[in-house]
Amino acid sequence: MIDWMEKAVPQTAALYPYVPGKVLEQLLREKGLTRAVKLASNENPYGPSPKAIAALQQAAVGVHRYPDADATELKEALACFHQLDKEQVIVGNGSNEVLELLIRTFAGHGDEVIYSQRGFIVYSLATQAAGATGVVVPEADGLSHDLDAMAKAVNAATKVICIANPNNPTGTLHRVARLQSFLDQLRRDLLVIIDEAYYEFVAAELGDSVRLLKHPGLVISRTFSKAYGLAGCRVGYALTDAAIAALVNRFREPFNVSSLAQLAAVAALQDGAWVQARVADCVAERTRLEAALQTFGLYAAKSNGNFVLLRHSRAAAIAAQLENRGIIPRPLAPYTMPDYLRISVGTVEENNLFLAALSELMDSIR
Ligand SMILES: Cc1ncc(COP(=O)(O)O)c(C=O)c1O
Repeated sequence: MIDWMEKAVPQTAALYPYVPGKVLEQLLREKGLTRAVKLASNENPYGPSPKAIAALQQAAVGVHRYPDADATELKEALACFHQLDKEQVIVGNGSNEVLELLIRTFAGHGDEVIYSQRGFIVYSLATQAAGATGVVVPEADGLSHDLDAMAKAVNAATKVICIANPNNPTGTLHRVARLQSFLDQLRRDLLVIIDEAYYEFVAAELGDSVRLLKHPGLVISRTFSKAYGLAGCRVGYALTDAAIAALVNRFREPFNVSSLAQLAAVAALQDGAWVQARVADCVAERTRLEAALQTFGLYAAKSNGNFVLLRHSRAAAIAAQLENRGIIPRPLAPYTMPDYLRISVGTVEENNLFLAALSELMDSIR
């Protein structure tokens, strides 16, 4: 028998596949249920803008052609939206791909990538896949990126720093003024990624982060998967220095964003009113869920994303019981947070089902 692990690149041994939220159909099958609600992947439960759906329908007839390899229209729309040059925009198969491309372009064997212990897990996976060394900085308060400690962790081998703001799964946020003072402490030749996958949920509170791009080496990544409701299309982007974008482009697959995704993203971007209305719906429901968690004694911390955090010493039992009742939460053991569950904010009806299930099971948990 051939030992293929021995043949694979050395970093394979330490890698493990990303664990996504449980698939709804799988839970229905496993539990013999007729109805289930997935609150595990921070999607937009309302779906995308009707304009994006119309664009997808129109684009469907052209899928026998390859997409525009440079995603010209999408990059132009994003450049115009952010008042930057098209050359400063990187697009990817979800912002996940953009993050991986950035890390792969700038870090390899012998290089260090700094991220927070409970920061978004893809930074660690992408670092390991690139053969680079991850430097894990614990959160000062258990939840929030410790920016001072991250700045202190920089050494001659450091190439990249990754910050999720707001962070998934902890939901914490640093405002622009704090980010600026962090950047001011750093060497100028580092790639600093500020991952703003949940930007739309904190736009007013965060401040104008795009102006931070004056800092050399700064990258801001965003996605169409969350507020814009296009998670299934897989389209995300980053804004940075044109020279950095050009280097990343060398690692990119030629047709990494599908024609459907490109057109849907342009249409979604142009329907700002729709996105704002859905974000307002989500924030109102998040407030309601956090208040309910408080009454159950399960509230962990304020979230700035489209999800809430539940904390209990028997979080795993709560997760199992929620699943028995057709609710899929996200356990956070992979983030060294076994006492926590992350619950994505659903529609009013979905959240009611979650709260009813929680209320029912709490007697058996206490
Ligand atoms: C903080 C953060 N960054 C990036 C992503 C990747 O999202 P996508 O690849 O769908 O753009 C996610 C997804 O959950 C996330 O939570």
